[in-house]
Amino acid sequence: MTAQLIDGNALSRQLRAEVGARVSALKARDITPGLAVVLVGDNPASQVYVRNKVKACNDTGMHSVLETWPASLSEAELLARVQALNQDASIHGILVQLPLPAHIDAQKVIEAIDPGKDVDGFHIASAGALMTGIPGFWPCTPYGCMKMLESIGYNLKGKHAVVIGRSNIVGKPMALMLLQQNATVTICHSGTQNLKALTLQADVIVAAVGKRNVLTADMVKPGAVVLDVGMNRDDAGKLCGDVDFEGVKEVASYITPVPGGVGPMTITMLMVNTLESAEKL
Ligand code: GUN
Repeated sequence: MTAQLIDGNALSRQLRAEVGARVSALKARDITPGLAVVLVGDNPASQVYVRNKVKACNDTGMHSVLETWPASLSEAELLARVQALNQDASIHGILVQLPLPAHIDAQKVIEAIDPGKDVDGFHIASAGALMTGIPGFWPCTPYGCMKMLESIGYNLKGKHAVVIGRSNIVGKPMALMLLQQNATVTICHSGTQNLKALTLQADVIVAAVGKRNVLTADMVKPGAVVLDVGMNRDDAGKLCGDVDFEGVKEVASYITPVPGGVGPMTITMLMVNTLESAEKL
């Protein structure tokens, strides 16, 4: 069997067109959704991510502000910037790009963001809302994964979903979203014994570890759906995910590629969250 691709670029184009239409409707009410992106330091990967986020805002007709600060910015100065953005009525979403320099307590900065503008969904108020099933901002990467499953009409009820990775940004919220859709969820991590025995039982596998070839063909049940959140480089320097794509695509029913899979969906869901923050006004 050769799996069907879940094309994150195509799905993003469709969803961003819908966002664009809703942005136009808001503008007719004199509201322009605005996103502030704050970058501290000169991490090259972060620079690419924030550029793409700002570009996506512009493409959908939103207002965006990119603040770049030297790595020497103090924690107090960053907290002051967050407070200013909390007060800024033209800004509906605030995103502080991670990682932050080591002298800044990232959690403290995240908690300083007004939960009503927490479009990354990283604030404990957002995490708590997801945990208890009340409305709130969902972290963009797992939210994008849920949209990809929705796009293939996948019904998670009673299915076994295995999430590999337990980060606050992807693994943990991913598991909660799958659970909310009535899947039976297993969270695996670096301490998991016999990962293969678990993944072989899975109807859906989400790989979110940040390491190449975490999931190989022999670990996948025929017909399983595989979502690859990884963003790594292979020996030739080419972008690749956590999944051995060439092998796994011969076993899975659906698979997301890297690049062009989950990556664009993350930014798309950031646009959705920012739009919906503005729509609440
Ligand atoms: N660093 C890597 N991914 C993300 C993300 O989704 N949001 C933020 N703020 N930083 C990140």
